[in-house]
Amino acid sequence: MTIERVSFVAGACGEWRIQSVTAITGAGLPVATHLKRQEGGEPEDGATWTLRGVRSHQRYTQRPEAATLMARQAGLDRHDASHGALLPIVKSEAWWHLAQDDRRAIFEETSHHIAIGTEYLPMIARRLYHGRDLGEPFDFLTWFEYAPAHSAAFAELLSRLRATEEWRYVVREIDIRVVRS
Ligand code: HEM
Repeated sequence: MTIERVSFVAGACGEWRIQSVTAITGAGLPVATHLKRQEGGEPEDGATWTLRGVRSHQRYTQRPEAATLMARQAGLDRHDASHGALLPIVKSEAWWHLAQDDRRAIFEETSHHIAIGTEYLPMIARRLYHGRDLGEPFDFLTWFEYAPAHSAAFAELLSRLRATEEWRYVVREIDIRVVRS
């Protein structure tokens, strides 16, 4: 997979209008009116805040899971997916000190992240970006797009994931909701 850079730029313009910025765990972010998701290139100056990440290889997904995801998932930029959510996330040092196989066990065998998430495909389109190795403030930038009719499903997905063992390692999470402007 190509390592593609992304910048989420909050400011006065952008294709998404920000509806809410909610600190779920830890500190929030300043309020802005618009958000731009820019893959590649360098964002312009003058933003209220900019969060950066890269698309990267998969750490935990096993082959049958990858095949199921490929078969079911929808791409971004669907015409009817007028709602979006950016959830920047930081996991604790305890998480990062675990061995890879222990992290996988918590992520899937105990928390069923992929199994739960797959239930919401193709309704919810998703993209995961990594920020930790860039020295960014967030380990992950998670991005979702969905139709208004699937807002309740997205809320249910969030509450199921936040109740898992995996989320006990989440020390900062912000829930930024947007609609296409
Ligand atoms: C739409 C349904 C979802 C599906 C199908 C899904 C699937 C996945 C998969 C397959 C991975 C593992 C990638 C890898 O192997 O490295 C992953 C990672 C991740 N997902 Fe989800 N996910 C979904 C929803 C969510 C939601 C709603 C959130 C945030 C609230 C979220 C946050 C994360 C995070 C932070 C990671 C990185 C975990 C880590 O590397 O420690 N996911 N997801």
